Amino acid sequence: MHVKTAEYTHSAAKPSQFVKRPVPHFVFAGRSNVGKSSLLNALLNRKSLAHTSKTPGKTRLVNYFLVNDRLFFVDLPGYGFAKVSKKEQEQWGKLVDAYLRETPYIATVFLLMDIRHDPSAHDKQMLEWLLHYQIPFNLILTKADKLSKSQVIRQRAQFARIFGLAPEIIFATSSANKFGVQDVWSQITHHYHRMRELMFDSKETSC
Ligand code: GTP
Ligand code: MG
Repeated sequence: MHVKTAEYTHSAAKPSQFVKRPVPHFVFAGRSNVGKSSLLNALLNRKSLAHTSKTPGKTRLVNYFLVNDRLFFVDLPGYGFAKVSKKEQEQWGKLVDAYLRETPYIATVFLLMDIRHDPSAHDKQMLEWLLHYQIPFNLILTKADKLSKSQVIRQRAQFARIFGLAPEIIFATSSANKFGVQDVWSQITHHYHRMRELMFDSKETSC
């Protein structure tokens, strides 16, 4: 897919602000600091459309980015950041939960995990949640530039084993050197067309 336009549209702090427009959503979810906003920028070839930070907990709202006027990239607040108060964590948890339950046009959720670390209890919970609600997802292993090629292969197999997933839906990526970013685009194109077919019996599926 060729990105012609990409713009930040707005942020939602509560469910009444969620986008209900019938447009496929591609969702970036995962622990705080895992690289959600960075991957979104890398995919769109933009340096700082989504704000990134060394300080975890930067993304506190549900942030919407409209791409080619045809699909949304949605940057979710990260979970599991200990330094944020329990109350605030609960608020974000509720917001994310509401977003996933109330958004009818989720094409796929990119669930991000750091390739270097074993999944946390939160990661496992999130994946079980997606399986339970039958929301399509891809597992994205971030920061692959931090490992050697052979370690990347090993870790991908390890994540597949831990979650009992087919390795085909797991992608190793790096926003720093763009490794794997094209594979994520292939998934976006695939899910975009699948979603459009579900949404309308439409001929207008090119993007
Ligand atoms: P929250 O908004 O707090 O939930 O974090 P986030 O998941 O959006 O993470 P963000 O994209 O802000 O990245 C966090 C830190 O990791 C930043 O310092 C990034 O520069 C760094 N980072 C993200 N992706 C990569 C990557 O692929 N490789 C390397 N080396 N660093 C990365
Ligand atoms: Mg972020």
